[in-house]
Amino acid sequence: MLNHLTIGLNLNVEKHLNIKSGCLVADITTGNGGHLERFAHSVGPTGLVIALDQDARCLQSYSAAGVALKHSNIFLYNTCFLNIFSILHFLNVKELDAVFADLGFSSPQIDNPARGFSFLQDGPLDMRMNKDKGLTAFELINKSNVSELAQLLYKYGNEPFAYKIARKIKSEKYFPNSTHALASLICKIYTKPCNHHPATKSFQALRIAVNQETEKLTSLFKKIPKIIKTKGLLGILSFHSIEDQLIKKHFHQNKILWRLKLKLKINTHTKDIEKNPRARCATLRIFQKLI
Ligand SMILES: C[S@@+](CC[C@H](N)C(=O)[O-])C[C@H]1O[C@@H](n2cnc3c(N)ncnc32)[C@H](O)[C@@H]1O
Repeated sequence: MLNHLTIGLNLNVEKHLNIKSGCLVADITTGNGGHLERFAHSVGPTGLVIALDQDARCLQSYSAAGVALKHSNIFLYNTCFLNIFSILHFLNVKELDAVFADLGFSSPQIDNPARGFSFLQDGPLDMRMNKDKGLTAFELINKSNVSELAQLLYKYGNEPFAYKIARKIKSEKYFPNSTHALASLICKIYTKPCNHHPATKSFQALRIAVNQETEKLTSLFKKIPKIIKTKGLLGILSFHSIEDQLIKKHFHQNKILWRLKLKLKINTHTKDIEKNPRARCATLRIFQKLI
């Protein structure tokens, strides 16, 4: 297991989620299994942790599967978190004490050039977390016209040069089919220096669109009350403003159902940032289901 890559382990999420011996818990974005292992220890032999990740990589022995092999109280599924409802039905579990979602991509996903998430290393423009489903980033660019591509870059990346970038990409005889080719096209649009790599926002936007991240989260938030006990807890670790806005809006509109019990900015925990710069803007929120 690659625990050093898990953000927020020193936040002791299991304590904030009040996970105790005998609890029924779901870790719906299990990744490397860093948090999963903590949950398995906390629920003990009389509890159960249902673990999900849509990336088949979680089934590899050095990932969540390695953790699951050590703990008989973990049931691991390689699937989208929206399937939690049918899984619980299959397991005859009606309600959970706590659910945890650690959003976005994992370090091993972005660090592997073959997955196409990173502009720092060259690879195919893929970006799918589930490699068996959906369009790659290259196919999405091909399919979109200038205006659709610009809208996507703005909506999911807040990219100020969205239209210029989209027009540049679509004016090329051959659309960029590698991460470096796309990043260097975007760099041509940014003529003045900026405090982030010029491709950061566009890559985030494409990744969110390719994986339909906001649609899936919205659907999850609507349905999740069905499977959490009254007074049960939902923990969400988010990493950028698009996720934050979606969370804030949904839970603000559903105050009758949810109470924000805790909000922690991870930047107080500098050790995480040293190990993984993604932690710089991470926020842990814990919501309690009121009714
Ligand atoms: C930040 S990582 C989780 C890290 C994990 N908590 C750990 O301890 O290593 C996010 C994970 O969520 C997964 N993921 C993203 N969207 C998902 C979805 N809709 N369904 C299931 N897993 C998803 C990704 O594949 C990735 O492995």
